[in-house]
Amino acid sequence: MAEIPKTRMSVSADEAARLRAFTRNAEWMNGRIAGARVAQPKDAEALAGLLSDPSIGPKIYTVPSVINAATMSAFIEDHLMQRARGEGILFVSFNTDGAATAYFDVELWPEWGAVKFGGAVRASRQGRGFGGACGLAAVEWCFDQLGVARICETTALDNDRSIRLLSRLGFEQLGQVTAYRPDGTPRASLYWELERSRWTEGRAVRRAG
Ligand SMILES: CC(C)(COP(=O)(O)OP(=O)(O)OC[C@H]1O[C@@H](n2cnc3c(N)ncnc32)[C@H](O)[C@@H]1OP(=O)(O)O)[C@@H](O)C(=O)NCCC(=O)NCCS
Repeated sequence: MAEIPKTRMSVSADEAARLRAFTRNAEWMNGRIAGARVAQPKDAEALAGLLSDPSIGPKIYTVPSVINAATMSAFIEDHLMQRARGEGILFVSFNTDGAATAYFDVELWPEWGAVKFGGAVRASRQGRGFGGACGLAAVEWCFDQLGVARICETTALDNDRSIRLLSRLGFEQLGQVTAYRPDGTPRASLYWELERSRWTEGRAVRRAG
């Protein structure tokens, strides 16, 4: 049995159906990352351009080890099937030249009202707060639009930026898990969770601040 999500609180059948339907019908992220939309097969080259950077691919266990237009086309097709089942979605944002600037890979457990998102920002845009903005956009999409109860996350043990980003967003680090790459090899990972209640309380405090 997969180790994640660690917290498994069943939601009603109506709520699970609502989460699936929302995912099936989502086209745009409609948040602070302008133009982020569901990835389509035509985006394979652009996505390869983003993920093939050595500072990105190796840090993400869910992407194929070989990154090119062909593997990204299969990756996108697989996510369109996940979306059709209401169990996942792949968003990508672009700059005015059509280059991919960030991606968000969402995995949903409708039965537990839980979600996990992976992602990355273009190497040339890293280290200047854009990743932080993307992380915030992803959390807002999960809680304010999709409306799940909980977000879980995994990071490599040495991914300082991602660890700092999740900590700043209010995620709690809850031990370790073993994540498995598409080729079946294991990756030791830190495990994180953020409850919607904790998020909305924190936001109210920040806003009152
Ligand atoms: C992780 C990632 C999204 C962060 O985005 P970013 O634009 O680089 O980072 P930001 O500028 O928003 O900063 C995020 C945090 O990292 C810290 N950071 C930024 N550059 C850093 C560096 N060179 N070394 C260490 N920490 C750094 C920032 O200080 C910030 O932490 P703080 O809030 O405590 O100050 C981005 O680096 C990335 O896409 N990495 C490759 C893929 C990846 O690792 N994805 C996550 C997998 S779990």
